[in-house]
Amino acid sequence: MESPLWCIKYRPRKWEDFVGQDDAINELRRFAETKTCPHMIFIGPPGTGKTAAVEIFAREFLGDDFDANYLWLNVRDLRTYPVSKAKRSIQALAKVDRSKRTPFDEYMSIVYKDAKEALRRRGKSGDPNRSEMLHQAIKMFASTLTVITELVKVMVLDEADALDNNMQQALRRTMEIYSDACRFVLVTPTLAGWIPAILSRCIVVRFQPIPEADVKRRISEIASAEGVEIEEAALTAIARECNGDMRRAINMLQMAAAKSEHVSEDDIYDVSETPLTKTVRELVTLAINGSFVKSRDKMRKLLAIEQYSPSEVLREIQHDILRRPFDDATRIALLERIAVVDNRMREGKNAFIHLGALLASIWHMTSAESSA
Ligand SMILES: Nc1ncnc2c1ncn2[C@@H]1O[C@H](COP(=O)(O)OP(=O)(O)O)[C@@H](O)[C@H]1O
Ligand SMILES: [Mg+2]
Repeated sequence: MESPLWCIKYRPRKWEDFVGQDDAINELRRFAETKTCPHMIFIGPPGTGKTAAVEIFAREFLGDDFDANYLWLNVRDLRTYPVSKAKRSIQALAKVDRSKRTPFDEYMSIVYKDAKEALRRRGKSGDPNRSEMLHQAIKMFASTLTVITELVKVMVLDEADALDNNMQQALRRTMEIYSDACRFVLVTPTLAGWIPAILSRCIVVRFQPIPEADVKRRISEIASAEGVEIEEAALTAIARECNGDMRRAINMLQMAAAKSEHVSEDDIYDVSETPLTKTVRELVTLAINGSFVKSRDKMRKLLAIEQYSPSEVLREIQHDILRRPFDDATRIALLERIAVVDNRMREGKNAFIHLGALLASIWHMTSAESSA
């Protein structure tokens, strides 16, 4: 069944579906073509195609053996799965209503049983903890013999930043022992926190934030496939607001399209903004248009009634200024003013007075721009 979520429906299924990521993809294609699969670590921010790419790579690399020789595990799911649930036996699970159990429940029940058995063999009684269960899950897959001996298995540990130090040590040992039969792909946002012994075994594949032009191209393809009309300014707004995160970009399009079939720039702001971002945008616009008193009233409400901290508000003002089409000189002057206000607030000076003065400067500097 097709997913109702567009980010899943439009998940890349072949290399041509990807936008951006040329370096990572060229490298993975080369590995697949030459039937090479080193241990790899995929790094990059969310929504840049890491999970989608690993599956395409493994399908090409494994060919017909994909189903038997590929295992994808989300470490975070595994770590947060309650041991009390995993304790249910397969037989007990079979009696649970179908709608209330998933293949992952069944998998976890097998993992639990194996981990308990492994503990028993080491002369220990009691329940395995999560770390032992994870270790067992990895071992279970890595150690079963492949049918075709020259072909290795591919095991993906997604969201692998959820592995703590002990788990990393255990993984390193498993990698060492089963290195001939099983290759690991670790998927994680950054290299921070990884033990050198793992890093030195892996090739790093880097995923970049998706460039704005590529986000626009992909979003307009999806919009036309869905019969959604989208204004050029709205495309630009999505590309800017998503910060290189394609999942977020597609979600914004889908949310905006749910509200109106003709998507405008304002529709995008409506779905992408937090209440604070929205109010700050309104108050900066008021200041630019010279409605200083109204602008300051909104600011007072944010601080006194809604209890936002002055530094949060200042940060949003800064983001807002960066997004507006000011000329460079105006933008630089405003950012300098923001830095001064930031300093004064850190010194404990009255935040409301200084933020108010900033609104006055915004009016001042931008009206100078428009009259120049
Ligand atoms: N480079 C890309 N090209 C096209 N679509 C992408 C790309 N990266 C992400 N997407 C979209 O975002 C969704 C999430 O991508 P995913 O691979 O899960 O990202 P990650 O694992 O890096 O967080 C995909 O289903 C797809 O719709
Ligand atoms: Mg992912």
